[in-house]
Amino acid sequence: MSNLKKKTLSPKFTLLLEKLNKASEKKQMSLLLDHPWDEPVENAWLKKRENIAIYGTPYYDLATEEERRLLSVYETGSWWYTFIVFENLVSEYYMKIVNHGSLKKFPEVVKYIHHFCKEEIVHAMVFKKAMAHFQITPFPSPLNLREIYSHNAAMSEFPLKAIYLTILIEWLAENNAMEDCNSKEISPLSRAVAVEHHKEEARHIEWGKNMIREFIDMVPEFLKEAQESTAPMLRSMLDMSVCSIVVYSRVGFQNPAFRDYKKLIPAVLESENRQKINSRIMAPLMRYFLELGICDPNDDENMKVWRDNRFEKDVKDAVEYFRKKSAGTEDIDNVMNKNYD
Ligand SMILES: [Fe+2]
Ligand SMILES: [Fe+2]
Repeated sequence: MSNLKKKTLSPKFTLLLEKLNKASEKKQMSLLLDHPWDEPVENAWLKKRENIAIYGTPYYDLATEEERRLLSVYETGSWWYTFIVFENLVSEYYMKIVNHGSLKKFPEVVKYIHHFCKEEIVHAMVFKKAMAHFQITPFPSPLNLREIYSHNAAMSEFPLKAIYLTILIEWLAENNAMEDCNSKEISPLSRAVAVEHHKEEARHIEWGKNMIREFIDMVPEFLKEAQESTAPMLRSMLDMSVCSIVVYSRVGFQNPAFRDYKKLIPAVLESENRQKINSRIMAPLMRYFLELGICDPNDDENMKVWRDNRFEKDVKDAVEYFRKKSAGTEDIDNVMNKNYD
């Protein structure tokens, strides 16, 4: 870690920090003003029909229209609740880093973390308000989130691993939210919750991605650990998002087939529709892992980890993208360039 003492920020990263700090000063989400809070609750779909867990499976026909709608409400509500827990944890943790002084050599970074934390505090309030609006009560606390910051975030070291885990969650969750809710066909409030959040999260994600690029060489054990832990973590997050037994029981499906979870869960996870959604969520992340060597197609041991977690096709797609990509092509994965539907 002694290299850190000599480290200065690259011009590219310095420029990005300037841009991020300016953007955060110019416009920040307001708890009162940026969402249509007067929207009626009745008959609202909170995510797209094609994105509810049972779409494209035989279970879709076994559910009533009201059960399908309720699934859209509770699946979205359970993501909102996960966001609340995660954003509370991340803002506490990042403020701790700032106060501890681990990053004080890089004041532009610290300045951006202040914006980041303030934004997450407001986001959590917005998600809480949206849950109250649609009368969705909290879900059981996602335990593995709590462990991320308690197990992986020693203060004495440079907090690269915690920053990495944070962007993995933010990036996957944001791609998922855009897939589910960036549509004029759903509740305007649910769409606004997703889109307004994404505008600020896009900055968080670009910052996190570039923190890793900038500091990866300073933390020698980082790469190996990331090669081992990234695929299983993403797989469990992707699967968790569509097979929550708590969500299914809240919908209260009438047909008893919905209580045979041993059949229901694989049907949902393996549906062609879900695999297509998952591959769109994963594509930009996979390109990033290839760039950094977190996924290394020439390393058999590493490829086994990706294969065992059912990402073989995603790796192939990313390799193919780089094979065809010519020099000077724009960065298609800059999250800040997103167009909203
Ligand atoms: Fe957020
Ligand atoms: Fe964030």
